[in-house]
This record gives sequence, structure tokens and C-alpha cells, in this order.
Amino acid sequence: MKSKKRMVSGITATGTVTLGNYIGAIKNFVKLQEEFEMYIFVANLHAITTPIDKLKLRENIKSMAALYFACGLDPNKVNVFIQSEVLEHTQLSWILTCNSTIGELNRMTQFKDKSQKQKNKNRTDYIPTGLLTYPLLMAADILLYEPDYVPVGKDQKQHIELTRNLAERMNNKYGNLFKIPEEYIPEVGSKIMDLQNPTNKMSKSSENPKSYISLLDDIKIVEKKIKSAVTDSENLIKYDPINKPGVSNLIVIYSSLANKSIKEVELFFSNKDYGFLKNEVIKVVSILLKEIQDKYYNLINSNDIETWLEKSANNARYLARKKMSKVMDKIGLNYK
Ligand code: TYM
Repeated sequence: MKSKKRMVSGITATGTVTLGNYIGAIKNFVKLQEEFEMYIFVANLHAITTPIDKLKLRENIKSMAALYFACGLDPNKVNVFIQSEVLEHTQLSWILTCNSTIGELNRMTQFKDKSQKQKNKNRTDYIPTGLLTYPLLMAADILLYEPDYVPVGKDQKQHIELTRNLAERMNNKYGNLFKIPEEYIPEVGSKIMDLQNPTNKMSKSSENPKSYISLLDDIKIVEKKIKSAVTDSENLIKYDPINKPGVSNLIVIYSSLANKSIKEVELFFSNKDYGFLKNEVIKVVSILLKEIQDKYYNLINSNDIETWLEKSANNARYLARKKMSKVMDKIGLNYK
């Protein structure tokens, strides 16, 4: 029997899980779980790159794990685990650190954006080292499992390219060490935009909660957020992300959740107004969130989650240890 191809991905446990995370990443995990062998984790180590309250972090980790299952990941098919429970992630990350340069990390746009934010707050004295080295931990998360694909949204493309470059560099230096992974980016919804400022990505770290939809938002709040989403004054429903970013974003959200192509959505909304568009978006988002939340509140206090996470961490550890043993041998860290 032909073995399944493998996928690895994760979401950072900095805050809530957004509709952007769902459409850009989780929806694909769920769709592909039959076809691929999957390792999906809660990136809790990535969550400490900027300061975070310890109780909040603990809550985020558990909540994110429950959300993965509530969104439809089947614990019998997908390995869902907590990043820090597999120590090899940090071990490989150090080895990658020693094979990377500050120059290539400085070029990462996420680092530039995030360090710029600190500079804007006059905090040039406080740009955490972790912000710079963050993509190396991400590369380790990936390379440990020899995946064929990494399902992510568009914002992670550059990090995957860096991962590939590091893998190729180390393969040249040490012999065949890593499998070269590819990104797997959805055709529709790879970058859901901020509802208030639709030229920016929807982000869980936004300071304005009206900018994003959390999968755990109350449905009444979601309604308000979508109603107040920024559009334009043309009242023409057309997909044109450059000139009509707000309307295009609502079209993309609808297209992804209604499983219709952008063309079909444009046709469906032709001759309709923005009020109608927003009401239809509210409908598809509410149906999705209600389903997720019903499952989530049933799951969050059950003991099942811990059992599933532990079983999957064991499976992940098995692969990770095998890989690290090869890496340690090849680069000469094993003295035996
Ligand atoms: P994070 O936590 O920012 O986002 C998790 C996933 O959601 C996607 N995403 C979006 N997709 C569409 N529209 C948006 N507005 C949007 N916002 C986020 C992201 O592209 C991502 O796929 N460093 C990663 C987490 C990570 C990881 C990994 C991912 C750690 N190790 C290894 C893959 C493989 C991050 O911060 O994603």
C-alpha cells in the first residue's frame, strides 16, 4: 500500500484563534486530514517571543488544542500536540541557528514589521532576540518531521522559503540531511484582511477587537463586527483587492465559507447592495462559529483532550527522535 504524504503545521498560542487562521490554515487541515498523515501543533514556544502573562498562555494552549478538534480535526486521524512537549524542536532550532546568518533573518518581513512596531513605540532598546530567531524554531518544527507539504496562509511563505534554504544549505554541507518541504497555500483566503483596515492582514494581535473575528466571539458581537466592516462608497460588489479591499475581503470570506468560487460569488451578489452582502457574510460566519462553539464548549472540560494530546505527542516524539539522532550523527555531535 502506498504510504500517505505528510503535512506539518502549527498556530501560535499568543491569543485567540481568528477567522483568518481558520480560513487560511485550519480549514485546509480539516479538508486534507483523510488524504495526508498530519502533525498539527499548538506553537506555545513561539508564543513567548513577546511578553505574555503565564495564566493567559496556559489558557490559550488548552483553548487552541480544543479548538483544533472543535473545528473538525479527528483525533484518530491527525496528530495534534503541544510544541514544547517534543523537546527536539528546541534542540534542532539551536543547530539551525548555528547554520543561519543574522542577515537572512533581518530580511524576514514579519521581523521587520514587528521590530518596527517596537521602534514606533520608542522601544528600540527592546526588540526581543526571539523575534529575530523565531523563523528558525519554525524551520525546526517543520524539518523534524520530513513533511511533503506545510499548509499555511500567505504570510508564512517567506518563512517556508527560509526553511527550504536552510535545509538545502545543510544538505550541501553535511550530506543528505533534510527533506525539502513545499508550502501548501489555499487558492481562496490565503490572506484574510483586517475588518477595519482592509489593507492589513487580520491578526489576533491587533489592538482593535473590531478588526478581527475570534472563533469564540459571541455571535451577536460577530454580527456587529461584520456590519461595521469598512467598505467603500461605490455600492458595487466586485472583487478588486487593490481598489476595493474591504468589499473584496468580504467576498473572499463568503467564497471560502460557502465553498463557491469568486466568480460565482460575484454573480450571486450582482445588483445587490453592501447591506445584503454583509448579511449573507454574517449568515455563513454565524453557522460556522455556532458549530465550532457548540463542540468547543462540550470538549473544553473533558479529559479526552489530554489523552489525545499525549498520544499524539508520543507519535511526534518518535519521528523527532529518529530525525535528531541522524542529525546528531551527521554533524558530529555524537561522540560514540
Ligand atoms: P500564526 O499563528 O500567525 O498563524 C497560523 C496560521 O494561520 C495563517 N493566518 C492567516 N491566513 C489567512 N489570513 C489571515 N489573516 C491569517 N492570519 C494567519 C498563517 O499563515 C498560519 O498558517 N509561525 C507561525 C506558526 C508556526 C508554524 C510552524 C506554521 C510555528 N511553527 C511550522 C507552520 C509550520 C505563525 O505565527 O502563524
